[in-house]
Amino acid sequence: DSTVKVALLGFGTVGSSVARVLAASKFPGLELTHIFNRSVERKRTSDAAKVVPASVVWTEDIDDILNSNVDVVVELMGGLNPVEGWLRKALTAGKSVVTANKQLIAYRGANLAKLAASHNVHLVYGAAVAGGVPVIPGMLQGLGGDQVTRLSGILNGTCNYILNRMEGGADYATVLADAQQLGYAEADPSADVDGFDARAKLCILSRIALHSELDPDAVMTQTISTIEAIDFMYAKELNCTIRQVSRAQRDGSVVHARVAPMLVPLSSPMAWSHGTQNMVVASGRFGGDVVFSGHGAGGEPTAVAVVSDLLAVAQNCGTVQLPVRKRQVAGEFLAPHYLR
Ligand code: HSE
Repeated sequence: DSTVKVALLGFGTVGSSVARVLAASKFPGLELTHIFNRSVERKRTSDAAKVVPASVVWTEDIDDILNSNVDVVVELMGGLNPVEGWLRKALTAGKSVVTANKQLIAYRGANLAKLAASHNVHLVYGAAVAGGVPVIPGMLQGLGGDQVTRLSGILNGTCNYILNRMEGGADYATVLADAQQLGYAEADPSADVDGFDARAKLCILSRIALHSELDPDAVMTQTISTIEAIDFMYAKELNCTIRQVSRAQRDGSVVHARVAPMLVPLSSPMAWSHGTQNMVVASGRFGGDVVFSGHGAGGEPTAVAVVSDLLAVAQNCGTVQLPVRKRQVAGEFLAPHYLR
C-alpha cells in the first residue's frame, strides 16, 4: 500500500485548519488516519471536526500513534515538553515529522535533524517561521546558492496586528484581546509581545540562511507592550512608524541579532505591512535582496505551510500526485482587479 498515512497531533486553530485543507483538496495518495488531542470528546464533537473522515482514529494516548503504521506525524501542539520526547520516538520509529513548533526547532532543531537523518526520515518545519509565507522552502531551494549575510523583517503576526491597529488609534489591551480571539496569538501571548516567538523564528532562519546556530536565550529581545499612542505621534513626526523588527547579520564568526520595536521609515516596505503580514528581507552577497511576504499567523495560512511540507515529505516516501486538470483559458476577468 503506497498511501502515505498521516497523524495529526493537536486539533486547535492550526490542526483543524489542516484537516479542512486536506478535506477540501483530497490529495490522492495521502490519508489522515489519526488525530491526537488531550480532550478528544470535546474536539470530536466540535464543528471543526465535521470535515474529518469517519475512518480517522481519535486518541488521547500518544502511544496509539507512535505504535501505529502512520508514515508522517504532523505536530501542532507547541512547546518543548512533552513534545520533544514524542517526536524523538516517532523519528526513531521511522516516521517522518512535519512541525510548526518554533520553540522546539529553535532550541532542539539541529539535534532532531541529526536524529531524523540517522533514521533516514524527514524532519520539516516550514510552518514554524512566518506562517503561510514560504520563507524556509524559499531560502533552502531558491537561495541556497547565494551567501546570505543579513536577514531582517517582521516575524510575528500578532505584534504587527497590534502595532498596526495602535497606529490607527486603538489601545493596546483591546487589540491584544482581538488578536487572541482571532487565533493569531500564542497560548501565552507574552511570547508574542515580548519577542520570544520572533526570536525563535530568527534563530531558525539564521541556521538555514546564515548557517549559524544561535542560542535563542542570547538574542536580545525588547517588548512592544510599553509602546504607547504618543510613540506613534513622535514616529510620525520623523516620517516613521513602529514595527517589531527582527534582524540578524553575520560578521565573520559573530552574528548580531536582535528583536525589538523599531522606528521604520514610511518609505520602507516594512511600514506597509498590515494585519498579520510577515516580511523577511534576505540580503545575499551575489543575488542582492529578496523579499518574502504574506500572512504570518492564523489557522489557514499556517495550514497551507503545513500541508505543503506534508506533500513534500509524502512525495519522497510514497506516490502522492498533485491533482491537475486541463482547463479552458478565458480572456476576461470576472471582476475588475487592481494591482495592490
Ligand atoms: N503567534 C504567532 C504570530 C503565530 O503571531 O506570528 C505564528 O507563528
